[in-house]
Amino acid sequence: MKFSGHSNTAHTVGIVGTGRLASALGALLSRRGDTVSVIAGRNLEKARKTAHFAGVKEAVSIPELPPRANHVLIAVSDDALPFVAPSLAAAGLRASIVLHTAAAAGPAALAPLREQGNATGVLHPLQTIPTAERGVDTLPGSAFAYAGDAPATAWANELVVSLGGKPLAIDAQQWGLYHAAAVFASNYHVTLIDSALELLEQTGLSRSVALEALAPLVQASVANTLSLGPERALTGPISRGDTSTVQAHRSALANRPSATRSLYAAAGLRTLALALRSGLPAQAARELNAALEAL
Ligand SMILES: NC(=O)c1ccc[n+]([C@@H]2O[C@H](COP(=O)([O-])OP(=O)(O)OC[C@H]3O[C@@H](n4cnc5c(N)ncnc54)[C@H](OP(=O)(O)O)[C@@H]3O)[C@@H](O)[C@H]2O)c1
Repeated sequence: MKFSGHSNTAHTVGIVGTGRLASALGALLSRRGDTVSVIAGRNLEKARKTAHFAGVKEAVSIPELPPRANHVLIAVSDDALPFVAPSLAAAGLRASIVLHTAAAAGPAALAPLREQGNATGVLHPLQTIPTAERGVDTLPGSAFAYAGDAPATAWANELVVSLGGKPLAIDAQQWGLYHAAAVFASNYHVTLIDSALELLEQTGLSRSVALEALAPLVQASVANTLSLGPERALTGPISRGDTSTVQAHRSALANRPSATRSLYAAAGLRTLALALRSGLPAQAARELNAALEAL
């Protein structure tokens, strides 16, 4: 259905959600002068707390939102979207602009609202937000991916500018790839560090000493990768074509859980592709490949 809405009327912004991202976005938008009129949540008490944190006057239940906002930002758990979108549609949300923040769901998740004449899209911060307070600190300056109908992407751009972020247009068909990239850069990075901790604990170090010891290495590796690019930042046995070291690691890891051994092998094979781009000779790559496959 074609969008038939509010391009000439004032924005009244409502946020659906009472969690970390909803709270951080609400607080930032309010502080930067955008008027967020209302916070809506399934739990009214939590909606009131979020509104207080964000400096927003009104808190309502989700079905009460539609008459109060013509620009709606939905920041609920990914698996709640199939309930929240139809619930807003059933409550009469029409001719509005609606964005959601769940990259895994992509732009299609708001189909029930689009069918009711709303312009819909997705706006996803490429950032990790463990608490609302951390989100308030880190969202400004972050990239925000967006896709959707033209009025929705126009509002998404306005929001990103207002939040001090960097807009990132992503093709609606490519959200799965975009989100997998975010998982690599954030979640799996955490997993790699946790794997290193597991091995250091096996050497006899306490977890806290090991974490502190890893910090300068991790920070330098990330800084080098971001400033020099992966090809120039890569060091270590695979970049040197050192097959005997990889074979020694295979023996050292023999008694570790299979998930740790598989991760070492998979990360090693992917590192091999990077090392080849950085100039590793093909013969050395074949030998390393065999050693890693043997894991
Ligand atoms: N946190 C991050 O790092 C991050 C980064 C980028 C994007 N996002 C996206 O932001 C969205 C929210 O994430 P979050 O981290 O802010 O989550 P969160 O802190 O866990 O909050 C989840 C919110 O969803 C609500 N909710 C859950 N099930 C519901 C249902 N069936 N009906 C109505 N509301 C429901 C919760 O309400 P109750 O409190 O009542 O349960 C809560 O308000 C997700 O789409 C996530 O993918 C998060």
